Amino acid sequence: MPDLSWTNLGFNPVETNSIIVSRFKDGVWSEPQSVNSVEFSINFFAGSLHYASSCFEGLKAFRGADGKVRIFRPEENADRMTRSADFLAMPSPSKAMFLEMVARAVKENIEFLPPYGFNASMYIRPLIFGSSPQLGVATPAEVTFAVMVSPVGAYVGKTLVPVSAVLVRNYDRAAPNGSGSYKISANYAPSLRPYKIAHEQGFGEILFLDSSTHSCIDEFGSSNFIGIKDGVYVTPLSSSILPSITNKSLRTIAEDLGIKVERRPVSVEELQDFQEVGACGTAVVITPIHSITDKPALESEELTRTYSFGEKDKCGHVLHRMYDVIRGIQDGTEEDIHNWCMIL
Ligand code: PLP
Ligand code: COI
Repeated sequence: MPDLSWTNLGFNPVETNSIIVSRFKDGVWSEPQSVNSVEFSINFFAGSLHYASSCFEGLKAFRGADGKVRIFRPEENADRMTRSADFLAMPSPSKAMFLEMVARAVKENIEFLPPYGFNASMYIRPLIFGSSPQLGVATPAEVTFAVMVSPVGAYVGKTLVPVSAVLVRNYDRAAPNGSGSYKISANYAPSLRPYKIAHEQGFGEILFLDSSTHSCIDEFGSSNFIGIKDGVYVTPLSSSILPSITNKSLRTIAEDLGIKVERRPVSVEELQDFQEVGACGTAVVITPIHSITDKPALESEELTRTYSFGEKDKCGHVLHRMYDVIRGIQDGTEEDIHNWCMIL
């Protein structure tokens, strides 16, 4: 049994028993192998290191109140990974192979799955990357698919404790006809510098705007944007944001709860109309946002305006209710009426 404190996990990699790996070469995927080390050897000329030929996924496994192990919507992640790999002109595993390797990664590391009741889960990170040597910009000849897992707690701060965010006006995440809607590694590089600056200034999250007009909200660096306006669930419709599986699930839950859903462009000015704002995603689940600061530039000491939402230290009641339902489905304490969980 690993010597882990389930209460203070945060979002950091923990070395587990195994990583499940398959390699694509000469048109076929190799038989998946369990690799017992987080270290591996790679050619310095590997395409992914130079030209970002890599994409990944994020999903979670939960230990339920009934002792069962549930993986939340893995088929959605399999489909999205194929979409990302297609965008990079790279091969992806079949859905059956993806699901099999994900299940095997959880089973082989089952003692790292946090018990029920600790606001913790097992994060599953499937990764596809170009692993063969190359110098020209081209699709890699050989590709590696790995599924790793790590026990995790809250992504930022503490579960359901609101955090602050800052609008990023002078850095863009994704171009209108670019790669923003794919879960490719290259999308995260443009957020590294803004994250560093924002964290140094004490902000917990960064919020990107649409890069063509900077007038509408795109998404947070790690997650989608949700606002609650007079009881309505509002979330941006944009071609440059990641189609979040959490957001899709929450929209369905909202409808089940009789909450109206609007998925449409959301202007920056509309921030003043929201009573609750949240970041949603696999890692962040629903993280309440208590304020969004607007500045002419991230580095600027000048503030244009700060928008505030609800109480500074408390999640608003609509987002809290939705959090309870999605976490209840994942923990087996709410009925899984849409059949979202794969039970191991
Ligand atoms: N947006 C970005 C940029 C993300 O990295 C993620 C995380 O995967 C999300 C949104 C949320 O997507 P999901 O709910 O599928 O995890
Ligand atoms: C996830 O939520 O699964 C992600 O991949 C987000 C990432 C920033 C940790």
